[in-house]
Amino acid sequence: MSDVATSRAKVTLPAKTGGDGFDVPRHVAIIMDGNGRWAAARGLPRVAGHRRGVEALRKTVRAASDLGISVLTIFSFSSENWSRPETEIRDLLSLLRRFIRNDLAELHKSNVRVRIIGEREDLKRDIRSLLEEAEDLTRNNDGLGLVVAFNYGGRQEIARAARRLAAEVTAGRLAADAITPELLGRHLDAPDLPDPDLVIRTSGEQRLSNFLLWQAAYSELIFVPINWPDFDGAALEGAIAEFRRRERRFGGLIAQTGS
Ligand code: FPP
Repeated sequence: MSDVATSRAKVTLPAKTGGDGFDVPRHVAIIMDGNGRWAAARGLPRVAGHRRGVEALRKTVRAASDLGISVLTIFSFSSENWSRPETEIRDLLSLLRRFIRNDLAELHKSNVRVRIIGEREDLKRDIRSLLEEAEDLTRNNDGLGLVVAFNYGGRQEIARAARRLAAEVTAGRLAADAITPELLGRHLDAPDLPDPDLVIRTSGEQRLSNFLLWQAAYSELIFVPINWPDFDGAALEGAIAEFRRRERRFGGLIAQTGS
């Protein structure tokens, strides 16, 4: 039995096979929320919650890979997070730097392909280089795709796509009335990725907060009442089990499966 088949057996609900033959969602996206509340509940500084959040991320990446998920997108730093206190921004940036420096070799060894979505132009040069290094090193890996949404906002991404199309129109290479949802989708930050089948948000909050607004049009949303630092492989399997109970219709009448 293959590794994927072995790990699939861990999901105990009856199989609901997707169009691609997998009984797990192809693309899972996660809003990792509740680090601050996790820390506050323990009388710890917020950074302690973020540090434990990185641990939870490691466990989740491992589990996603074992489960045979193709793409895992994580909301690591939003365009709006710059409004947090400077000390917290510094902590989050240094955790990202450390995550890439410490974990990149391991991710590469595990055949993970790292990709970044979000606005890079206004990032500090060292962060940009690290993000590029992670992408370059893992470019040819064909295991789990780990998409890190960094300095990311869904509206900003759609505006970027609109600007790319507008430039084509201005240059006379595209007629304005040739712009369709499909074409706009092809000008997003990672146009080759499938839309997320499942978006998970931890901490009990129930909103998208500007995450993957375009791509999540038909995603199943699952809100998990635990804070991100307590998330792990079992929690991921629990969310997938809930996902498999859902009937996806994609706006139609007849239930379809997969994406
Ligand atoms: C939300 O918790 C979490 C974030 C803003 C950042 C998520 C970051 C990590 C898990 C660690 C760093 C990531 C990488 C890729 C190294 P919150 O601070 O909004 O929590 P609260 O709502 O309880 O205050």
